[in-house]
Amino acid sequence: MIELEALNKSFGAKDSAVRAVDHVSLQVNEGDIYGIVGYSGAGKSTLVRCINLLELPDSGTIRVAGFGAVSFENGRAFFQNDSGAREALTEKRLKLLRRDMGMIFQHFNLLDRSTVFDNIAYPLKHSGMGKAQIRARVLELLELVDLREKINAYPSELSGGQKQRVAIARALANNPRILLSDEATSALDPDATESILHLLKELNRKLNLTIVLITHEMAVVKAICSKVAVMENGRVVEQGEVYKVFSEPQATITRKFVDSSSGLGRINKLIDEHANVISGGGTLIRLTYNKDCVGDALISEVSRRYGVNMNILLGSLEILQGSPLGGLIVLVEGEMDARREAIRYLCEKNVIVEVIEHG
Ligand SMILES: Nc1ncnc2c1ncn2[C@@H]1O[C@H](COP(=O)(O)OP(=O)(O)O)[C@@H](O)[C@H]1O
Ligand SMILES: [Mg+2]
Repeated sequence: MIELEALNKSFGAKDSAVRAVDHVSLQVNEGDIYGIVGYSGAGKSTLVRCINLLELPDSGTIRVAGFGAVSFENGRAFFQNDSGAREALTEKRLKLLRRDMGMIFQHFNLLDRSTVFDNIAYPLKHSGMGKAQIRARVLELLELVDLREKINAYPSELSGGQKQRVAIARALANNPRILLSDEATSALDPDATESILHLLKELNRKLNLTIVLITHEMAVVKAICSKVAVMENGRVVEQGEVYKVFSEPQATITRKFVDSSSGLGRINKLIDEHANVISGGGTLIRLTYNKDCVGDALISEVSRRYGVNMNILLGSLEILQGSPLGGLIVLVEGEMDARREAIRYLCEKNVIVEVIEHG
């Protein structure tokens, strides 16, 4: 649906330039809810603004299904059709491309002096639709986001969640196939966040809407994304299926994100501050159970088999994309050889074992 190839975008003059997007390549398939996660300043907003050409990339190529490719060179954009002919990107084509991508933002960007109706009707103004048609479309959109009763309200009379619903309706007015969401839930309380994420999921299913969802919260990715890319310093450092990335994070920053959302990351802080209280001579290990072994009673089995004490300090269980993912921090006590054998056995059973500290 969207394919980015070696996309670059810098800001500022040569020696003080910031590489906001650094050689990013990724592929979003039709129907994906594709999460892009990273800390503040990682380049997420710039990347998403490059996707809909609000920002002109310095170099690289963007392909959007049904449009051909747009490539960039020295601040100029070129369009290449499927047979390979290349020409400068025209305003008209740019408009068509943008029309296929709706966008929502953290702070909603509604017109404060306009009613809900007028906000949603705004992008339909130059669509050639008549008044009655526009009204019918706005009503349909309000139905879709479940906000019919607020049609004549002003943004100041709405809650954050309701404002985001208006913004979503407006973004979908022209029937785009793609929705770009830049921190759309970051200004909302947990309940509103949940209901907006639920709505996005429903729209994805109902309309086969492809969603690119930018967030600094791994919990958001966990809730609705099928794939995720992790960004750091303008680069995508890791990408893949959400389950795979969460169960076997590779990059340090991904591990940090995953830990902060499961709660297991607390162990590192606890060890830093209270090492002697926690490990006291045992081997501290971290176990990750994926969907193939989450149901097995491995702890008691290992404990019996090798005569070791397995002292559970922290645990978590999450359901990701419909599959369970479990994590445990365990203190193993007993003969050194028995501990080793116990760990080897767990590995054999497809549990991912990491030794945090050897006592
Ligand atoms: N218009 C701009 N002018 C100069 N620097 C910018 C501009 N937009 C973003 N940046 C810089 O690019 C980097 C990435 O920013 P941004 O894409 O907003 O990150 P994120 O959305 O992940 O927080 C930051 O260092 C930021 O200061
Ligand atoms: Mg941002």
